[in-house]
Amino acid sequence: MHKLPNLPYDFGALEPYIDEQTMRLHHGKHHQAYVDKLNSAIDGKADLEEKSIEELLKDLGSLPEDVRTAVKNNGGGHYNHSMFWQMMSPLQTGKPDGKIANAIGSTFGSFETFQEKFAVAAVGRFGSGWAWLIDNNGQLEITSTANQDSPISSGQKVILGLDVWEHAYYLKYQNRRPEYIENWWKVVNWDEVQKRMQ
Ligand SMILES: [Fe+2]
Repeated sequence: MHKLPNLPYDFGALEPYIDEQTMRLHHGKHHQAYVDKLNSAIDGKADLEEKSIEELLKDLGSLPEDVRTAVKNNGGGHYNHSMFWQMMSPLQTGKPDGKIANAIGSTFGSFETFQEKFAVAAVGRFGSGWAWLIDNNGQLEITSTANQDSPISSGQKVILGLDVWEHAYYLKYQNRRPEYIENWWKVVNWDEVQKRMQ
């Protein structure tokens, strides 16, 4: 049975950048729904029930056809959101330091250029999806995916991810996705990002 993880902070902790009501719905309704639908998709299939979420998503092609799409969408939703909550935290400096700062600087030129390119990917993702910073065989890259597709299914390691589904920002920002992204930088948990890089 897959389970909804607790948030590592209070629902209102990311105010004013991410509002409490959005966090409550996003975690308690949207993420919970992915978990429930994933569990019901694999219910009674013992070989799938014993796999971790990573194992399920890493090789979607090996899954029986009748559950593949449900696992991709709902398993992806569960996995992506579980990472996303960890990638945010209150009381952030807004800037990385140490190893991750160096890696971003040497790959993109500067942190500001990285932010611009990441925002372009996030704003440019048509409809629902995610923007990602991934480690592709040792090389940092910015990508985006549609829906709940997860980089892990393409063999890529996620370093940082941003949910750009409207459910992530609509209550506070309505259609202003760029403003949501700009404010989201203020709650990025760079310690967690750094950890994921290692
Ligand atoms: Fe979401």
